[in-house]
Amino acid sequence: MSIENYCKFNYDFLYFEEIDSTNTYAKEIAKNGACEGTVVIADKQTAGKGRLGRTFFSLLDGIYLSVVLRPKFTADNIHLITVAAAVATANAIDEICGVKTGIKWVNDIYLNGKKICGILTESSINTQSLTAEYAILGIGINLSLGNTQLPDDIKDIAGFIFEETQTLEIKEHLCARILDNFFSIYKGLSEKEYITQYRRRSILIGKDVKYICGDTEYTATVCDIDDHARLVVRTADGKIRILNAGEVSLKL
Ligand code: BTN
Repeated sequence: MSIENYCKFNYDFLYFEEIDSTNTYAKEIAKNGACEGTVVIADKQTAGKGRLGRTFFSLLDGIYLSVVLRPKFTADNIHLITVAAAVATANAIDEICGVKTGIKWVNDIYLNGKKICGILTESSINTQSLTAEYAILGIGINLSLGNTQLPDDIKDIAGFIFEETQTLEIKEHLCARILDNFFSIYKGLSEKEYITQYRRRSILIGKDVKYICGDTEYTATVCDIDDHARLVVRTADGKIRILNAGEVSLKL
């Protein structure tokens, strides 16, 4: 691949035809000193990881990439990496692929009611300084299904941007735009303009959702996404609750 040709900023690219997980690999190299802006890309993953310990099915025509980050901000803002990446990726997909995507809080991108992209940020926090030694931003995008048979648990949820397999050129262009969009936001992460874009793209505001917190399932209506990218909901008993991404599993 020659994504470099499409990129505005400089990155160190590492390509794999097949890998277990680009996030796992990026984590290993981050532990060994890889610089911010090192990008691991694979055509296929055999053990792609999703949020909350789930697997991310990645044996199809897609984009699987992980970026090594060395954040300067404190650990309580790490979740904003996912938020910034969601905006960066949704904007890139819309522009390059000519579609209109939405964001399902906190880390999923949807097209026509189906999930086409998942984002997973993992980090290693220094408990003394409460800063991150490194963070790994992982992005997985379903481009097209081809002849792949989807596993039962995702066949009603997973969607694809295209019907046909895409050219390498589209893939490279999309990767480059995602990375450049992301780093443009990440450099000024405290500015929060991207949260307005995130809110505008939300497919949840005004919808009823179920969320699991601890062992209990609640039903609520989504009212807003606040300036810290937390979900503001009204529960069935009329109470307003503010949900942090780490705490809840959410169903539409
Ligand atoms: C989710 O949907 O819960 C998040 C999925 C994140 C998947 C990407 S694919 C590239 C990177 N490597 C992984 O193992 N996971 C992320």
